[in-house]
Amino acid sequence: MTERGEGLKHGLTNYGDRDFSLYLRRSFARSMGYSREMLERPVVGIANTGSGFNNCHRHFPELLDAVKRGVLAAGGLPIDFPTVSLGEVFLNPTSLKYRNLMSIDTEEMIRAQPMDAVVLMGGCDKTVPAQLMGAVSAGRPAVMLVAGPMMTGRHKGERLGACTDCRRFWARYRAGDVSAEEIAEVEGNLAVTAGTCAVMGTASTMACIAEALGLILPGTAAIPAVHADRLRAAEATGIAAVNLIGSAVTPERIVNEKSVENALRVLLALGGSTNAIIHLTAIAGRAGVTVTLDQLNRLSDTTPVLVNLKPVGNGYMEDFFAAGGMGALLRELKPLLHLDCVTVTGDTLGERLDDEIGAYVDRTIIASRDEPFEPQGGLVALFGNLAPKGAILKRSAADANLFEHEGVAVVFSSLADLAARIDDPTLDVRAEDILVLQNAGPHAPEAMPEAGYLPIPKKLAQLGIKDMVRISDARMSGTAFGTIVLHVTPDAASGGPLGLVRNGDRIRLSVKNRGIELLVDDAELKKRIAPVPPEMEKPTRGYAKLYAEQILGADQGCDFAFLRPQ
Ligand code: FES
Repeated sequence: MTERGEGLKHGLTNYGDRDFSLYLRRSFARSMGYSREMLERPVVGIANTGSGFNNCHRHFPELLDAVKRGVLAAGGLPIDFPTVSLGEVFLNPTSLKYRNLMSIDTEEMIRAQPMDAVVLMGGCDKTVPAQLMGAVSAGRPAVMLVAGPMMTGRHKGERLGACTDCRRFWARYRAGDVSAEEIAEVEGNLAVTAGTCAVMGTASTMACIAEALGLILPGTAAIPAVHADRLRAAEATGIAAVNLIGSAVTPERIVNEKSVENALRVLLALGGSTNAIIHLTAIAGRAGVTVTLDQLNRLSDTTPVLVNLKPVGNGYMEDFFAAGGMGALLRELKPLLHLDCVTVTGDTLGERLDDEIGAYVDRTIIASRDEPFEPQGGLVALFGNLAPKGAILKRSAADANLFEHEGVAVVFSSLADLAARIDDPTLDVRAEDILVLQNAGPHAPEAMPEAGYLPIPKKLAQLGIKDMVRISDARMSGTAFGTIVLHVTPDAASGGPLGLVRNGDRIRLSVKNRGIELLVDDAELKKRIAPVPPEMEKPTRGYAKLYAEQILGADQGCDFAFLRPQ
């Protein structure tokens, strides 16, 4: 044993002779130029998800150096290793399909390789939940370092940030408001630095949730990717990882019912991404903690929206950081939080917040609880015969005029059907209709893509229509906005009632009653058979087969059944 931890002796390769295994491992490690003294140190593994297919992580080489510096300074030996990396816009059909693959990779490589603690370097949307799911299951001391958000770009005097402004400009381009030349110019100014999307999208929401859970260092969720503080946070994360060695503060202990409830409060107060509810459900599930949509509604009723960032408000993540960041938000939420939750520093959340009393807050970005931006949480769960196990609406990013709405369904049976017909000038659709997309949920081959933000049909967009009620079993990007009902569960491809909706059916949405009802009587529904689009064939090999056999619904975080604790 080293002074703390087992170092390289951890989990020896099995050659039937333990001493030989250690001798061989040391010999091969020395081939990389390490001294024998260095190899006696406790080992901190660093899960490095830098990848040429992940623009958000392009500064990871520099961050990695800073983490290593911290580990070395604290007396550990830093050894980085690659895992699957998920660059949101580079994956087909969607990154969510590979989140569980990345979590398996992370868990198994933490467990299989000799490390006493691990630093998880993630950031882009699915990488944070994948790493946290894997780390909770692996049960080794772990601390996360997030990439940090991008800085904003400029276009004609206006600030631009991926990706709320991407969608805003694209909608204007579709409506004929913006020329092809201008949209090309905007394209070059939306994502201008390393880091994750600049608004309170999924990546930023997950970073804030990681801080609320206590799995990253205090105050580090919102530091911009290119800020010197981000490098200092990386160094401090390396030190923290060494300090965790031998402690009982492991991720599956940090993630518990109380810390998960804190994270839900933060999600609601942020007006955060709808995706985060799926990811938090999956992370919590790995620790044996159940998140229900009833719980979300209960907390939503008593948690105000306190953060004024796009897509719900006006600011960007760089503003949130300058305004006081997560510390300011958590202090504002303090009476609603469980303060006895332990964090990766070994301090409780309450101790952390006591240390920060009196810190600066910009109230244009982070409101006080007495004067919130919205009196209730940003997300609300809906239930009804169309979604017996629930659906999600991000009310803070929706048009309140559509909250109590009854309309006629215009149905698309699949993503292919949607793409083929949404802009057809002969499509029979009016602004007060309800667009319904089927077979885009977790059990569909496209694996629940962020297609729930159905485009406004071109002929209506050109008339100036900006929002309509849209319903699907798909997800929506955390950077998107609109009156969009998502995650309808069970999904159509697993036999949910969403698959039974027909053109012309009436649907009633009531945010007040938390209801989403298909106004067709049961006898008629029993007669209907859900059509199976041709692209729904079951895969016969590889990861796609494993996915199809193991995937759970949105209500269980879209985890794989065999990965949850038995
Ligand atoms: Fe990586 Fe948005 S594309 S966070």
